[in-house]
Amino acid sequence: MIRIFAILTPFLFIPLLASAQHQHDFAGLETPETMSAMRLIDRGDGSAPRWMTFADAMKLSEKSHAEGRCAGFMDITDFQDLDQEPMPMVEYFKLNLGDRPLKQQAYLSRAINELDSQQLFKTVSEMSAFKNRYYKSDLGVQAAIYISDRFKAIAKNRTDIEVNLFKHNWPQPSVVAVMKGQGPHANEIVILGGHEDSINQSAFGSNNMTAPGADDNASGTATVIEVFREIVESGFKPDRTLMFMTYAAEEVGLYGSQDIAKKFKEQGKTVVGVMQLDMTAFPGAGDQIVFMTDFTNPNLTQFAQKLVDSYVKVKWSTDKCGYACSDHASWTKAGYAAIMPFEATMKNDNKDIHTVRDVIQKLDFKFGLHFAKLGLAFLTELAKD
Ligand code: BES
Ligand code: ZN
Repeated sequence: MIRIFAILTPFLFIPLLASAQHQHDFAGLETPETMSAMRLIDRGDGSAPRWMTFADAMKLSEKSHAEGRCAGFMDITDFQDLDQEPMPMVEYFKLNLGDRPLKQQAYLSRAINELDSQQLFKTVSEMSAFKNRYYKSDLGVQAAIYISDRFKAIAKNRTDIEVNLFKHNWPQPSVVAVMKGQGPHANEIVILGGHEDSINQSAFGSNNMTAPGADDNASGTATVIEVFREIVESGFKPDRTLMFMTYAAEEVGLYGSQDIAKKFKEQGKTVVGVMQLDMTAFPGAGDQIVFMTDFTNPNLTQFAQKLVDSYVKVKWSTDKCGYACSDHASWTKAGYAAIMPFEATMKNDNKDIHTVRDVIQKLDFKFGLHFAKLGLAFLTELAKD
């Protein structure tokens, strides 16, 4: 009897210890106050925004993902007027995107072959080595600095490129690399971006959460860096200004991209097109690119589909997230034209995101290269008339 009790005792205590440990970690980043703070949540499904606690909002997202749906939310508490005023300065229609002829065949026939899947692997392996990249953790800040150091190393000999941290009112900054355009179109901007943060939805708020976020979204970040590398190293000189962005705090409600889109709108900046890369290396539905058709611009999507046919030469199809699932929605809401090419259909998406199992071993960087090709074609074709 005593022996059985002695054997069982440690097992009886494990759950208690685990929950004590969880509570302790939990206090690290999100506090009882921030967890119970009321946030205005827009499900983006047509229903009216609702006030709920931060904790309930995160549970909503966790539940959707557990059910194999991508049906989260946009936290609009601090950005309630993002879609209130029309955007007179949006001039993307001048580019006649649906019918815009392609002109960069000569450049792209060479440059596309210089994109390197090993570089994607390197970045994803280094990014996913951060235990997490949560927007409130020191590691999340360090991950942003890592990205900015990568951009700076690539741009070290260039005076027309600036790399900046975009500071927010939470610890993790976004990162913005700017390649200035030359001539009369220099004030028009083309953006390639993806989010840099990660989350473990079963342990959110914990200082020690393990959230490698290899697919979601070290993969998109790696693609942004690789396209930047090729544009710089090939000596491409844009007429329009090209921006490469990695957004902070996407996983908690698109905070970083909303903050940036809001500022661009306030400053009256002309953005002619935005491509969002969020999850690009898990070929869940085979060798194809899937364009999300909600919260995106149909003309710009059509243009990008043409780029796939001409330059990436892979199958494409369409699907819907069903709600504002990533940072493209922040740009769309602000009145800009944004698109989201994605790695799979919703039905066949990577079910391990937001868990400890979102690791590099599950990814395929030959497949991931399609998105680098598309990103490179997108920026360079829109960079010149
Ligand atoms: N990369 C995901 C979105 C996603 C997941 C798109 C699966 C398509 C398939 C993104 O980082 C994410 O998790 N977004 C949140 C929403 C956000 C507003 C909190 C989500 O889906 O819960
Ligand atoms: Zn993501």
